Amino acid sequence: MTNKYIYFIANWKMFGGLKTLNSLNKVISFSKNYGKYKFKIIYCPPTTLIHNLSQKFKQSSIEVGAQNCNENLEYTSLTGQINSKMLRDVGAKYIILGHSENRLNGESNKLINKKIKSSLKSGLRVIVCIGETLSEKRKNKTKRVLSNQIKSCLKGIKNLSNIVIAYEPVWAIGTGLIPKMDNLTKNIFFIKNSIKNKSTKVLYGGSVNIKNIKDLKKIKIIDGFLIGGESRNSKKFIDIIKKTFN
Ligand code: 13P
Repeated sequence: MTNKYIYFIANWKMFGGLKTLNSLNKVISFSKNYGKYKFKIIYCPPTTLIHNLSQKFKQSSIEVGAQNCNENLEYTSLTGQINSKMLRDVGAKYIILGHSENRLNGESNKLINKKIKSSLKSGLRVIVCIGETLSEKRKNKTKRVLSNQIKSCLKGIKNLSNIVIAYEPVWAIGTGLIPKMDNLTKNIFFIKNSIKNKSTKVLYGGSVNIKNIKDLKKIKIIDGFLIGGESRNSKKFIDIIKKTFN
């Protein structure tokens, strides 16, 4: 994992407030002093912190992303909703879409496809989450699910240069469990082969931590990691990055 840029994306989910921001100073100085390694750090905080983080990271290479959006590009009367143009306006460069926590709340592939298209139009790079549930895995449906999610979510999108895929098995999120290394390797290969653009980055997410990164980093076709819980602690997040390269 040394000759390509490795993505480390922090998904803070519904955590974090203004008081949390000072702890990011460590990450900023780390990112400046580790020029010998090729990595890209992207923080996806809750919407309330996007502007603050984009200001804070201004003099660094760290970028900021959002966690979801409404699919409408027009400004309209939708109470409580935020579209991708608004997120871009406050400093987001990326957006996570199709996260299983939103799919579980009823977000369909069709809706995710609309959100991806409108986010690309707004100039955001999109991190599209895909992954099977435990029951789908047990029924040997993983490949079918992944293939269907890829096809439906990316339907009608010709230019994939601003798309990153994050493979997050639903059963691995927040559980401390990760896939067996050979299964993970096969699934990442399967995803890469299912995407027309051969240079599309494919990340892994689900319970990434300082211990299992030693194994995960051996899977050379993984282009980076989408990290939830462990990304909220700056020291742990930095240690995961360091361990990926050492
Ligand atoms: P955890 O790292 O907490 O398992 O979360 C993964 C995730 O959902 C990132 O999007």
